[in-house]
Formats: sequence, C-alpha cells, structure tokens
Amino acid sequence: MSFLNNHSDGKKMVDKVFKAAIKAKEAKDKFGDDEVVDATLGTLFDEDGIFVAYDSVWGPYDQLDKVEKGRYARSIQGNPLYRDAVYKWLFGENEMPAEIIVSPGGAGAVSATMHNVLNPGDTVIKPSQGWGPYKTMANEFELKLDSYNLFKDGAFDIADFKDTLTKYMNIQGKVLAIINDPCHNPTGYTMSSDEWDQVLDFLNELSKQGPVVIINDIAYVDYSTDPSWKDHFLKYRNLAENVMIVITFSLSKTFTAYGARVGASVVVSSNKEELAKYKDAAIYSARSIWSTCNNSVMELFAKITTDETLYTNYINEKQYYIELLKERSRIFINECASEEIELYPFKEGFFATLKVVDDNEKEALNLRLQKSNIFTVEVDGGLRVALCSVPKRKLRGLARKIKKCM
Ligand SMILES: Cc1ncc(COP(=O)(O)O)c(C=O)c1O
Repeated sequence: MSFLNNHSDGKKMVDKVFKAAIKAKEAKDKFGDDEVVDATLGTLFDEDGIFVAYDSVWGPYDQLDKVEKGRYARSIQGNPLYRDAVYKWLFGENEMPAEIIVSPGGAGAVSATMHNVLNPGDTVIKPSQGWGPYKTMANEFELKLDSYNLFKDGAFDIADFKDTLTKYMNIQGKVLAIINDPCHNPTGYTMSSDEWDQVLDFLNELSKQGPVVIINDIAYVDYSTDPSWKDHFLKYRNLAENVMIVITFSLSKTFTAYGARVGASVVVSSNKEELAKYKDAAIYSARSIWSTCNNSVMELFAKITTDETLYTNYINEKQYYIELLKERSRIFINECASEEIELYPFKEGFFATLKVVDDNEKEALNLRLQKSNIFTVEVDGGLRVALCSVPKRKLRGLARKIKKCM
C-alpha cells in the first residue's frame, strides 16, 4: 500500500550537482578554501569566489516599488511589457511568427513543452551529453527518453541526429527533440551556422511525415562570445508549416536571477492556427501547475532593456564576465591540450567536460579527483568542469593535477 499513485511511488530526486557541491563544501570546511577546486556549481562566481549578482540588475530592482514586488503578475501569459521585452531581446526589430508565454525559469518552459507536445509513452530525444533534468522531466510526464549522439570528429553529429529523429518519426508519427545551443551544457559547444542549416533543412524534410517540434534551449545565450548570435533566430522564418521551435529562454544566467524563476517559452511557427492553439495550451498548463510568475522581475527586465542608461550599465557589466569566462576557458582548454587530456569539443560558455566514456572509469576518476580536492560533476560520458565558478588562479595548473589522477 502507498499514499502515492503508481507513477509517483518510488520517485526520488538525486541531484548530482548539489550532491557534488556538498562534498566540495565539506572539503573547504576541512582544508580551507584555497586548497579546494570547486568546479561543481553552474552559477557565476567572481575571482574572489563571491557569487555574482549583477549591480546593474539588483540595483534597479531595489528601486522598484514594493507593490511591484508584492503583487501578482499582470497576466498568466506574462506581463505585456515583459513579453515585448523578450521579443525584442531575442529578435530585435525583426518580424517573427512567435508567441511568448512566461515560465518559471527555462526549466518551466522545457518541462511545459514536453508535457504539451507528447503523449505518455512517447519518446523525447535529447543530446547524448545533456542537462540532467531533461531526464527527470521526461520521467515526470511518463515519457521515454532517447539520445542522439552529439559529436563526431569534433563536430555536431548530423548523421546520428537525422537517424534518431527519423526513427522516432517512423514509430510515433511526431518528433520532439532538444537542442541546447549556444554554449551547450555540459560541453561548451556552440554549433556553426552551417550545422544549423543542415539541421533545419532536415527538419523541413522530416516534417513532411508528421509534426516536428524542437526545443532550442538557450539558457546560456547571453554568454555567447558572438554578439550577432541571435541573428540565428531569423533562420526559423524559413521553416515548413509542420515545424515548431520552442525557444526556452531564462533570466537565471542572463540576469544572474537564478532564484527569481523567470523565463519564457518563445514559440515559433509559420502555422498560425497551431501557434494559437499552442499558446492557449501553454497558458492552461501554467495556470494549472505554477499559476503566475514573478511580477517584479518581469517588470525589471522590461525596465532595464528599454532604458538606455540601465541597459548600457547592464551590457557592460555582463561583458566583463563574458571576457572573464573567455580568459578562464583559454587557461583550462590550453592546459588540457598540453597535458593531452581529452575534452568534448569546446567553443564557449560556462562549462567544459572531460571525456570519460566508461562509467566505472568515470566514477573512479571522480573519486581520485575528490581525494585531490578537485570537485567536478559526473555527466553522461564525462566529468563537467564549471569554469563559471572557478577563479583563474585555481584553473592554472588544474589540468596537470587532473592528469596526475588519470
Ligand atoms: C541547459 C540548461 N537548460 C536550462 C536551464 C534552466 O535553468 P532555469 O530553470 O534556472 O532557468 C539550465 C540551468 O542550469 C541549464 O543548464
């Protein structure tokens, strides 16, 4: 007998990131901060090991009226000013066939999409290296999960992407797949424009057999080193009627507003009727699961992105951290190359991942690293190093220390 239903009986959340972070904290308490490399947490820390909360975001937040902080949001779909601001943030002045629905972080948008697109028993497709909660979400909605192989010869494995999606189109007559780009978690890969063209051409072709939905998880988009990366979205205007892209946006990283829980599903399709139906379903899900989202941070995003001074302050502050991430990654990636440590293809972003395909070997290496006071996170096919949370002084020489444990 259980008070839980069949689906929920036995569910237990094991969060590898938080588990590893606790071990790192214990080591810091025991040996002192200087002796420990804590590369577990996917949040930005500065060179003094202090959590980064942007002055240019949280300063203006303090100026908001208390009523804005206390009141409900203006709409379940998201405050109109917020939706306009998100549209402009992603698409600029360009015309896009899009609907925007606010969500509690990017996580809310990813999970609502899985919930609304597939039927229980269907399979959602993720990259072979991917963010852990994709699995948790699929299970929560009684979906199965399969992966496309992410890399071949140092680049996006388009052949396996095509094979995997085609397989599920043949089985279930519909496909939902996740592409986490740019600044992929956990590898730091960003696909080239040409790789995206190949993907989109294929999606148009595949959609002749049935509906194709892609989650483009852009949680780290505002840390791309290419300032014109968002022009990429214009490619979505050329998609066939039977293709829908759900861009999952998040203020967690963009605004260092992880705890505020504000993001959005930005749904793009040239099929106007389906787009309207999708919006209605997403609003219904929102009301039934989390209701409304954080009013004050929606207003804050609109305020900062439309006020010239506030906007400039924010962009400058964020750019400082983009440069810092570049410097950190240059140190780590170059030293790994010198030590002949194999990493997954890296371009930019918060993370890099050591390639360790065998699970036993991966666990054993992680234990040896922990004994040397180096804390990483076990991910599919490797160990994730969070460059976002390790100062340069600790990254220098880290590759050599890792090599000694191999
Ligand atoms: C790949 C990826 N997607 C989505 C998210 C969503 O984060 P949040 O729900 O805080 O916006 C994260 C955060 O860690 C992430 O790493």
